[in-house]
Amino acid sequence: MFDLIVIGAGPGGYVAAIRAAQLGLNVACIEREPALGGTCLRVGCIPSKAMLESSERFQQANEELKKHGVKVGKVELDLATMLKRKDATVNALTKGVEGLFKKNKVTRYEGTATFTGPGAVRVQGKDNIELTAKHILIATGSKPAQLRGVEMDGELIGDSTTALSYSEVPEHLVVIGAGVIGLELGSVWLRLGAKVTVLEYMDHILPGLDEEISKEALKVFKKQGFVFHLGAKVTGASPARKGGGVTVSAEGLDDIKCDRVLVATGRWANTDGLGLENIGLKTNQRGQIEVNEHFETAVPGVYAIGDVIPGPMLAHKAEEEGIACVERIATGVGHVNYNAIPGIVYTHPEIAGVGKTEQELKAAGIEYNVGRFNFIANGRARALGETTGWVKLLADKRTDRVLGAHIIGARAGDLIAEVAVAIEFGASAEDIARSCHAHPTLAECVKEAALGVAGRTIHM
Ligand code: NAI
Repeated sequence: MFDLIVIGAGPGGYVAAIRAAQLGLNVACIEREPALGGTCLRVGCIPSKAMLESSERFQQANEELKKHGVKVGKVELDLATMLKRKDATVNALTKGVEGLFKKNKVTRYEGTATFTGPGAVRVQGKDNIELTAKHILIATGSKPAQLRGVEMDGELIGDSTTALSYSEVPEHLVVIGAGVIGLELGSVWLRLGAKVTVLEYMDHILPGLDEEISKEALKVFKKQGFVFHLGAKVTGASPARKGGGVTVSAEGLDDIKCDRVLVATGRWANTDGLGLENIGLKTNQRGQIEVNEHFETAVPGVYAIGDVIPGPMLAHKAEEEGIACVERIATGVGHVNYNAIPGIVYTHPEIAGVGKTEQELKAAGIEYNVGRFNFIANGRARALGETTGWVKLLADKRTDRVLGAHIIGARAGDLIAEVAVAIEFGASAEDIARSCHAHPTLAECVKEAALGVAGRTIHM
C-alpha cells in the first residue's frame, strides 16, 4: 500500500509526486504515455516554445539581421532539422523527469488508471496491477476540445499536437480560435512562410486578457501579416470535394479554402477511463472535478489538481496546486495564492499579465492608480531593436499595494516574474520603484512604470 498514488505525470502530477517523496511519503505515479511530462512537455509548452524560437530565428535571418549590418546571403528553411531539434528538446526533458523519479524514489507505472473502489486503482497497459493508497491525487490534465461540424482527421484538420509537426509549411493555414494556442502556433507557421487566417468567435482576441493589451496585440499581429476575422463563428470544416485542401465555413463569411486547419478552441478536462463512477465522484457541467481549497474532492482521500479542476489551464498553476496539495497531506499546511499566478503568451512580442486587470478592478469597485512605461523609451529596448509595447502597473489608490501588471513587449514573460513576487510579498509600487534595477535592462521598464504610479517616471 502506497501513501500516495498520483494519476498523471504532467507538470502538476510529476511535481506533486516528487514533492511528496521529498516529504517522506511512499509515492506511486501512474501515466499511460511511455514518456513522462504530460501535455506540457510532450506536445504543449515545450515543443511549441522550441518551434517559436526556431521560427523566430528563421525570420530574423530573413528580415532582421540586415538591420544590424549582418549579411547572411540566401536563407533556407530546413524544416526536418527544425522538427528534429524540437523532438530532441522534448526527449531530453521527459528523460529528465524519469531521472528525477528515480532519484526521489517515486515508483512509476505505465498504463491507464481506473478507480476500482475507495483507495484502490487498477493499472492497465504496459503494467497491469492493482494498487492501493491512503491518498489518491488525480492530475490527468486536459485534451483539445472538439468543435461541432469540424471533424479532426489529425492530418489536414488537426489540433495543436498536429500543428507542432506539419511535415511542410502550409500554403494557407486557417486557425480556428484566437486564443493562446492559435496565436502561438499561428505565429510559428506565419514566420515560416504560411498565409495564416484566424477565425475568432468573439469581437476581440485573447479572451480574458487586459482589454488594452488585447487591442494592441491585434494591431501588432495584423502588421505581422496575420489575417483576422473577428465575430466569426466557425460552423464546419471538411476536406474540399475538388482539388484537395479543406473548406472552412463560418457564419457571416464566404467559405474559406486552405490546405490545413488548426482547431484551437479551448481544452476539456480529461477524465477518460478514470472510472470516477466506481467511487461515486461526479464531474461538473464542464466535465471538471470540483475540489475545496485543499484540493479535496467530494470523496474522502481523493484529491484533484491542474487542468482537470476549474481555473486557468496553466502548467505552473498545476505545479503550485500539486505542491500545496501534497504538502497539506504530509504536513497539514499548503496554500496557493491565485492572485499571483502569471499568464504568458509567447508570441512576438510576448504578452504577460499577473494579478487583476483594470476591468476586474472596476467591476469590484476598487480604486487604483496606473503607472505605465513604453519600451521605446528604454535604452536596452532601443539597442535590441525591440521597441514595441509597454508595461502597465496597477496599484491600490489608498495603500499603493501592487494589484496587477500587464505587459506587452520583448521578454514580457520574464519581466512579469518581478511583479508576481511583489504581489506575493504584498509589496507597494513604491517598493518596486525604490529597488535598484540594473542599467541598461528591460526590467527598468517595470521600475519606471512603478515610478509612474506616483507620477515620477524619469524617462518618459
Ligand atoms: P482559449 O480558450 O485560449 O481560446 C480559444 C478561442 O477559440 C476563444 O477565443 C474562443 O472564443 C474561440 N472559439 C471557440 N469556439 C469557436 C468557434 N466555433 N469559432 C471561432 N472561434 C471559436 O483556448 P486555446 O488557445 O485552445 O488554449 C487552451 C488552453 O491551453 C487555454 O486555457 C490556455 O490558457 C492554455 N495554454 C496556455 C499557454 C500558455 O500559457 N502560453 C499556451 C497554450 C495553451
